[in-house]
Amino acid sequence: MTGYKDTYDAWKRDPEGFWADAAKEIDWFKPATQTLEVKNGLSRWFVGAETNTCWNALDRHVKAGHGARTALIYDSAMLGRVKKFTYAELLEKVSLFAGVLQRHGITKGDRVLIYMPMVPQAAVAMLACARLGAIHSVVFGGFAPKELATRIDDATPKLIVSASCGLEPGRVIAYKPLMDKAIEMSAHKVSATIVFQREMEKAVLVAGRDFDWKEEMDKAAAADARPECVPVAATDPLYVLYTSGTTGKPKGVVRDNGGHMVALKWSMKNVYDIDPGDTFWAASDVGWVVGHSYIVYGPLVHGCTSILFEGKPVGTPDAGTYWRIIAEHGVKAMFTAPTAFRAIRKEDPQAALVGKYDLSKFEVLYLAGERADPDTIQWAEKALSGRPVIDHWWQTESGWPMVANPMGIERLPVKYGSPTVPLPGYEIHVVDESNKQLGPNTTGAIVVKLPLPPGCLPTLWQNEQGFRESYLADFPGYYKTADAGFMDEDGYLYVMSRTDDIINVAGHRLSTGGMEEVLAAHPDVAECAVIGIADAMKGQVPVGFLVLNAGVARPAADIEREAVALIRERIGPVAAFKTAMIVQRLPKTRSGKVLRGTMRKIADGEKWDTPATIDDPAVLGEIEAVLKAGLGR
Ligand code: COA
Ligand code: AMP
Repeated sequence: MTGYKDTYDAWKRDPEGFWADAAKEIDWFKPATQTLEVKNGLSRWFVGAETNTCWNALDRHVKAGHGARTALIYDSAMLGRVKKFTYAELLEKVSLFAGVLQRHGITKGDRVLIYMPMVPQAAVAMLACARLGAIHSVVFGGFAPKELATRIDDATPKLIVSASCGLEPGRVIAYKPLMDKAIEMSAHKVSATIVFQREMEKAVLVAGRDFDWKEEMDKAAAADARPECVPVAATDPLYVLYTSGTTGKPKGVVRDNGGHMVALKWSMKNVYDIDPGDTFWAASDVGWVVGHSYIVYGPLVHGCTSILFEGKPVGTPDAGTYWRIIAEHGVKAMFTAPTAFRAIRKEDPQAALVGKYDLSKFEVLYLAGERADPDTIQWAEKALSGRPVIDHWWQTESGWPMVANPMGIERLPVKYGSPTVPLPGYEIHVVDESNKQLGPNTTGAIVVKLPLPPGCLPTLWQNEQGFRESYLADFPGYYKTADAGFMDEDGYLYVMSRTDDIINVAGHRLSTGGMEEVLAAHPDVAECAVIGIADAMKGQVPVGFLVLNAGVARPAADIEREAVALIRERIGPVAAFKTAMIVQRLPKTRSGKVLRGTMRKIADGEKWDTPATIDDPAVLGEIEAVLKAGLGR
């Protein structure tokens, strides 16, 4: 058996050969004429090849005789309901929905926006787009209409697929009015919407524009509209997924068809040690990259059983839900964000609920999405009777892990606080501002040597210049991850923080700059700053500091409440923005830069020094006093 080092070295010696080999696991309608093409710093994998992602996720497994294998388990802790779909059943649904889309004029290259809760229809819609070569753009349900409208205007979809409602603990969220509002706000006009009606709250459909999912599926069945998979170029986009960038405008991360499948298929075995037929569960949401890669495409392309979970780790109904799902569906490995385990630990500190369930099939827990604090990992290891708890690091842009403990190749020793080592595809360096490589244990910017491997974003949607500026310009020859950290003498990476304004709230990536843009729009606010402060459960939560216009005499509490409401209205509940505080001034450098880093250190009770460039050091004392009064910190 080949170990990690040999595998990594084999990739380094011949990267194209390595990925050409991995590509043999995928069905191609036409082979590649060139494994990798690099033009002006942009890379495209498997040039000349034709394939189809839906074919690889569904049809080929059915054709190979695995139609009766369970493909997808919808487990709704919100409804206490479980529904299983075999590969043959899922193929039938996806084919019919592709028929629906086709009857609505969707063809290869068209964009379809999907705004849905965690229902199986979301996965069906994604795969149906893939079947037709249409490009889906899934938007997380916790975003407000304004965010949805921004994405509609950028992706210019022909059609939106949505549901009448989503379920959050204790409340039903009507999605349709949110979608209607977004459609009204956006400059680009979609021609139609298809709405999946859930029984808890039926949506009112606009005649001629909104269509009922079930009725459309029935019509497609009656017309025998089950289109075959449309061949697409390996380099054609499969989807666009928006993620927070350094401004309020989200970035449209593009994912291709060919490289994406090759990388995901490789990762299922080599990173997650999962075989076809195994049950894999990523407890995330289809609105995030984890949902795209490891609820839908990775497990299905690999021929696994995947779980689509609607619920929370706690309160639906209790902190034993994850254990119940692992036991009930024979999960071999699961993937979630550390925040979920912090939530479980808070409710069930002794992990007493684990004992109620038979976890005999369960082997490994994978964590990502935010820094996994050693305390949480150790608690989870204990709760899981010593099973490995594996931190790994990646981002929306990469689409699959960059640094991990490659469990399917070799289980390396765990070092708490490190997601372990770079995977094949990723030559990772830690550099200073002038792109000079730093020695072991020295903190700097984490960058990846170009070209990026298959699966990583080839560009941003309709924004190649933005792609270059955001990722390639600062460190020539490297991709900027915008994370900072260090590598130890054994090559283990430690990811400590972001180098931009992104914060990570309950594993959700959010831009504080985007929040500042919203707060600045409040009529009484002269200037503001948003920082992410440490939170025992969510990792970080945003806190806003507001400086009011001269002469504003309204009660501070009213303005603070309005600021909180404004973020919820413009960005959405997912921002988890609950605290705004009025301050007299913001601490700034003499050139006018707000000292957010120092504010965060003060808030988190870390050691801080007065920056040499500060304009007026007294402001830091004022901030400290406000934090003490407002948050008791
Ligand atoms: N639609 C509408 N609203 C949503 C939503 C959705 N799909 N998802 C979350 N929200 C709302 C929540 O109800 C909450 O509203 P509130 O302010 O009225 O309470 C708000 O957005 C913030 O959500 P969240 O930060 O997730 O907090 P939470 O208290 O609901 O749950 C956790 C906290 C830790 C239990 C939850 O975030 C979790 O399970 N995280 C781990 C898994 C994960 O999501 N990983 C991300 C990618 S790997
Ligand atoms: P997203 O694009 O939403 O997946 O968020 C990616 C970002 O989350 C990364 O750039 C990191 O800042 C952070 N992140 C993800 N996984 C980890 C991890 N294992 N350790 C530390 N930070 C992480």
